[in-house]
Amino acid sequence: MKIIKISVNNFAQISANLVTEKITLLQRELKRPINIILATGKTMINFLDQLSQSSTNWSLTNFFHLDEYKSLSPQNPSSFAYFLTQNLFSKINIPKKNINFINGESPDLLSYVNKLHSLGGADIIMLGIGLNGHLAFNEPSSDYNFSSRISEVKLHQSTIEANQIDYPEITNNPYAYTLGIADIFEGKNIFLLAKGLSKSKIIFQSFRGKISPEIPASILQTHPNITAILDFDAASLLK
Ligand code: GLP
Repeated sequence: MKIIKISVNNFAQISANLVTEKITLLQRELKRPINIILATGKTMINFLDQLSQSSTNWSLTNFFHLDEYKSLSPQNPSSFAYFLTQNLFSKINIPKKNINFINGESPDLLSYVNKLHSLGGADIIMLGIGLNGHLAFNEPSSDYNFSSRISEVKLHQSTIEANQIDYPEITNNPYAYTLGIADIFEGKNIFLLAKGLSKSKIIFQSFRGKISPEIPASILQTHPNITAILDFDAASLLK
């Protein structure tokens, strides 16, 4: 795992530069559109804004996302599809057909992953990390299976509390659709972004602790191509 530690002031810019470089390199190497899976959450907002200002050839990119709340359509302001539209797609010149959403209202999970595979699979996956070590919405559990695939999941109380500010009705509907860890592991290049002191403990446990289903992100220690971009606060417990 490659770990890059940077100041929070440069966090969005440097992250966007690194991802942009990777997109451009892969477009040149593979000579086909690059498939990118995006994450949501506060960590991503400034990064997505910087990415939108990059000189990327967007017509040679296809986008997917990691997860979506159950029952929310892409037009619902609390949905992740809406978040990504606001924070990236509305700001860039990209053909609509290149954007693929999980429609939380009428999901077709199989078609969604089949489309990703038919286009060549995930070239780049962006990840954040939940305070409890979740990746996408793969929540910790003693019987959690690292070979999980896209499915419906029930969200944990700590996730409900963390996300309630953006989705007030989450308490009545604590369900989501998420790519599984096995889907995420198929990503050829993974970038994990984390910032802030609140993430320092889970970053330490995930990167230096025992690999355990109690901390889903710990499995990233075994991925062959992951770059973690951390601000000094999130990295503060790493030696
Ligand atoms: C949500 C998403 C995750 C994301 C996490 C972190 O739970 N499902 O993919 O990693 O939020 O969010 P934040 O960046 O707001 O801490």
